[in-house]
Amino acid sequence: MLGGAGDESRFLVEFALSPSSVLKIQKGDITQWFIDGSSDAIVNAANERMLGGGGVDGAIHRAAGLELKEACYEVPEVQPGVRCPTGEARITLGFKLPASHVIHTVGPIYDADSDPESSLRNAHRNSLRVAKENNIQYIAFPAISCGVYRYPHEEAATIAISTVKEFGIDLKEVHFVLFSDDIYDIWVKKANELVGK
Ligand code: APR
Repeated sequence: MLGGAGDESRFLVEFALSPSSVLKIQKGDITQWFIDGSSDAIVNAANERMLGGGGVDGAIHRAAGLELKEACYEVPEVQPGVRCPTGEARITLGFKLPASHVIHTVGPIYDADSDPESSLRNAHRNSLRVAKENNIQYIAFPAISCGVYRYPHEEAATIAISTVKEFGIDLKEVHFVLFSDDIYDIWVKKANELVGK
């Protein structure tokens, strides 16, 4: 759950994904999110270098401390300067973050990606796969690619929620933690359409 006083006008909204799995949508700062501090992970909207940056990537690295960058350096490059290709996911510990792990994924740069929809779907699907492989039971996504990478928000919400609906059912809880009112409202609207109460 998120620490600190949230914005009371936008509450946490919950949807059943399966008898043993729930989708939760809330507004807030993902660097404060955690569930149990041992089997929980926040997803970082990283870039392919995976050594930090701006936006939520910058916020996560600032909150986690320098050890996170050191852990990212340990992740082997698969091409010169590339530790995490677009659509793939890598896991590290969370260090000073309240959540125990960070799953770094790279969404598409909307205007530059030959197939942004499948890249964004892969980023969510691979994050969920890496979570399962590492016995993570609780995961929180930001709005991947919806900032610097300029993915249109409605389309991103549809892809994010439909991918979680299909692949998130093996985790206990899948959260979206959204930083702005307008994106929170879009995610809740899409979840009502695609998952329903
Ligand atoms: N908590 C939750 N969400 C956040 C936070 C936060 N603390 N800070 C920003 N966000 C939101 C943004 O408002 C946006 O809706 O995360 C979403 C993703 O925006 P970006 O962080 O810009 O990520 P993205 O669009 O995927 O671009 C990734 O930007 O920061 C660089 O290093 C990063 O090169 C990479 C690129």
